[in-house]
Amino acid sequence: MARIIVKEPSRKREERKEYYVPNEEHDYHTDFGTINKEALKKCGVVVFGKETFRIYPATFADQYTRLRRGVQIITPKDLGLMMAETGIDRDTVVLDIGFGSGAVTAYLSRIAAKVYAYDVEKHNLDQGLKNLEELDTPKRYDVKLGDAYNPDTIAQENEIDVFILDVPEPWRALATAKKALKQGGWLVGYTPCITQAMQLVDALDGSWALVKTCELIEREWKVGGQAVRPVTRDFGHSAFLTFVRKVS
Ligand SMILES: C[S@@+](CC[C@H](N)C(=O)[O-])C[C@H]1O[C@@H](n2cnc3c(N)ncnc32)[C@H](O)[C@@H]1O
Repeated sequence: MARIIVKEPSRKREERKEYYVPNEEHDYHTDFGTINKEALKKCGVVVFGKETFRIYPATFADQYTRLRRGVQIITPKDLGLMMAETGIDRDTVVLDIGFGSGAVTAYLSRIAAKVYAYDVEKHNLDQGLKNLEELDTPKRYDVKLGDAYNPDTIAQENEIDVFILDVPEPWRALATAKKALKQGGWLVGYTPCITQAMQLVDALDGSWALVKTCELIEREWKVGGQAVRPVTRDFGHSAFLTFVRKVS
């Protein structure tokens, strides 16, 4: 089982350090000393002189953010928004294109009734499938090769509730989305650039009702002692999310 080790600062201006240990079968070497495998297995607190390490089991969310990325994954904050806006729950059937590193499929297979996923690149598909195995993903997914821009290559999943579209030219996948989605179903376009969102929105015809295009900004704060302020880091832009519903 994977573990998280946290080393609390032991001197002024030192940052808190976090280590991810993929499995507890071997000793783990930090910059401050070695944590042996017995301590890793047991978890809890380990002290070396002035240094204190806290060890606890890694959860799915810890593993998700450390996925091997063949391609860029959808961030947890954006996934959270998608789920909240579209109401994904245990009865929902999802279509995830492009599958990429498998991050969306891994996350949603834990929550939804079924996740169908496609990618046009075999090597991305293979890497993503390895990630699903590593994350011990519930087998509620079905992953295949297919081209979002060609509805004939996407199998006959035509009762989809939520279609997540993370491909470079999502406007070219509208025919596929129309074929796959239920009436009232959600299309979520995930686009790093606003020009991509614009082209997607411009391509919508009377079959679609645009709900909104938005961006979610996450601002982390440092809280503790007298230093209470935003973490000095650029706002990390991830992507624009365009929420659309199929109306006919
Ligand atoms: C940014 S990645 C998706 C990452 C994925 N959402 C995740 O969180 O792991 C984009 C993926 O879309 C795939 N792709 C590009 N064009 C496609 C198409 N026409 N049909 C299906 N997949 C496509 C690429 O091979 C790539 O794996």
